[in-house]
Amino acid sequence: MLLRSVETGVVGAPMAGGPTTPELVAAVGDAGGLGILAGGYLTAPQLAAAIADVWDATSRPFGVNLFVPAQANAYAVGPGELTGAERADAVAAYRDTLGEEARSVGAEPGEPRAGDDDDWERKLDLVVRERVPLVSFTFGLPSTAVLGELRRAGAETLMTVTDIDEARAALDAGVDALCVQGTCAGGHRGTLDPVKQPSEADLVDLVAAVRAETDVPIVAAGGVSSAERAAEVRAAGADAVQVGTALLLTPEAGTGLAYRRALGDPAHERTAVTRAYSGRLARGLETEFVRRHDAHAPAAYPEVHHVTVPLRRASAAVDRPDLLALWAGTGWRTAQAVPAATVVAGLAG
Ligand SMILES: Cc1cc2nc3c(=O)[nH]c(=O)nc-3n(C[C@H](O)[C@H](O)[C@H](O)COP(=O)(O)O)c2cc1C
Repeated sequence: MLLRSVETGVVGAPMAGGPTTPELVAAVGDAGGLGILAGGYLTAPQLAAAIADVWDATSRPFGVNLFVPAQANAYAVGPGELTGAERADAVAAYRDTLGEEARSVGAEPGEPRAGDDDDWERKLDLVVRERVPLVSFTFGLPSTAVLGELRRAGAETLMTVTDIDEARAALDAGVDALCVQGTCAGGHRGTLDPVKQPSEADLVDLVAAVRAETDVPIVAAGGVSSAERAAEVRAAGADAVQVGTALLLTPEAGTGLAYRRALGDPAHERTAVTRAYSGRLARGLETEFVRRHDAHAPAAYPEVHHVTVPLRRASAAVDRPDLLALWAGTGWRTAQAVPAATVVAGLAG
């Protein structure tokens, strides 16, 4: 199994929106880790180009991460999800509250694009056709049929889960491995139910609980920013650690300049988990934008993502980091501007 043969036991997290580049994936692989390309938000042709760039840059195996859209989610989503007109109204009201801020950076809030499936079918065809060695998923559970198709194409499947119920559902569906994501993780929580309050259990306890139920490879993610922490989660039963925040400042990452600067800015005191940027809970540096909008942002992904994208793009262009989504895990202060190989070596098992 690929995930059991990663020499260092370090997986480079897929980080959609720019940070994970083909160069970063190749650098993590060449350093004895396993890099995962971020397929989320890309069109299938854009992802095809990124896959080709990784094949060109390294002979090491790598993974591709896909967002599972609501339409393809086989997990039983609990009650409380906004639907139909109620949902559209909540998104429209939220959009209205962002107008002034958008115009302050020369933009208008985006259109919600309800029903966007992130080019799911075409990207699935692509990873099958390209014989990508590992396919990881977040935001939803693919069907047993999809998982079977990937297995027949020779891919190992890795499912992001955030609690024991999700782990059981993923194992029942037939995934090959679990990425157990804890509350300290930077970026989106990979909850299979977009509405429920995610678990706040410590990563070590979560990994131990999942390990008690299964022998499949476990990759542990969230706040792993020191060799000691990596050793603790491995001792609890993880085969590897998946790190995102620790790679954000590496030269191989595509992290933008304003984002890099914000990560090193002592004015930021803490991270916060918010729906304000995308409609799905995600952890990032607490900014004025988060403080203003967290309480009234609706649970409506991906509509809220599409509404805020123009603000975020325009604020990067005019260097206004307070309107950027500065995704970061709780360990952000230890992230360093060193080569990815140094990060991998520092967290090796
Ligand atoms: C900037 C950023 C973008 C992310 N994008 C994705 C993504 O596209 N897909 C995914 O499965 N996880 C994504 N994550 C979550 C990571 O896979 C991983 O769970 C997290 O980075 C681990 O916590 P850490 O940041 O404390 O290392 C992202 C994380 C960050 C920081």
